Amino acid sequence: MNPPRHIGIIMDGNGRWAQQRGVERTEGHRQGLETAREVIKHAAAVGVPFLTLYAFSTENWSRSPQEVTFLNMALKNYLISELAMMQKNNIRFRPIGRVADFTPDVQELLAHTIAATSQNTGMTLVLAISYGGQLEIVDAIKSIALEVREGALDIDLITQQTIFDHLYFPELGACDFIIRTSGECRLSNFLTYQSAYSEFYFTSVLWPDFTTDHFDEALAVYHSRERRFGKENSAEH
Ligand code: IPE
Ligand code: IPE
Ligand code: MG
Repeated sequence: MNPPRHIGIIMDGNGRWAQQRGVERTEGHRQGLETAREVIKHAAAVGVPFLTLYAFSTENWSRSPQEVTFLNMALKNYLISELAMMQKNNIRFRPIGRVADFTPDVQELLAHTIAATSQNTGMTLVLAISYGGQLEIVDAIKSIALEVREGALDIDLITQQTIFDHLYFPELGACDFIIRTSGECRLSNFLTYQSAYSEFYFTSVLWPDFTTDHFDEALAVYHSRERRFGKENSAEH
């Protein structure tokens, strides 16, 4: 069976994983990065076209300065260390979010990673960083308003697709399946516009403990679901 076109994962529970082991939160984040690498490789191998990982939300800037500094440093190291993995697995990289919020060195690395992987034809790995779904919609509205003001866009021609076309990465489109680890059952501002018809999967497994088997289990649940999109139950036909 074909995997869903676009899977989003809210990688949550690193702090609790560390707390349970009586180690620093940073250990949880380190282990979480290992999980991310395995899940990325696996998703690419099973043919997922787009995988969006929620790594840092606009709200996460309000964590302690030590935590924010660590996460920014981890992002930087990750971009450096994982480029070879992306090339080897034919993965194209794209960030979504307020990239301008990061320091210039991180922004340069992001640009470098996008450019270096732009010709890859396998999975597109989308990293949501300094990302907020509501802010993404605000940014889309602003760019649409600008086009209207400049006379490039007619208000009467604005459709749902127009909004999609003005999101951070228009090609990404709707999200088919959203997985969240750690037992929390909320979106926390993830893919607000793209999740209108997503299927959801919540698991109590903490992100550092999440394996490719858990991923396959989640995919099996996805395939057992009937996506109706407002139509009647197909079994009645
Ligand atoms: C997810 O783990 C990683 C980020 C949000 C960056 P958390 O850090 O939120 O872990 P918990 O929720 O405190 O367990
Ligand atoms: C959501 O997790 C953001 C990421 C996984 C990057 P949080 O841990 O920040 O979400 P809340 O605070 O529990 O809603
Ligand atoms: Mg959390």
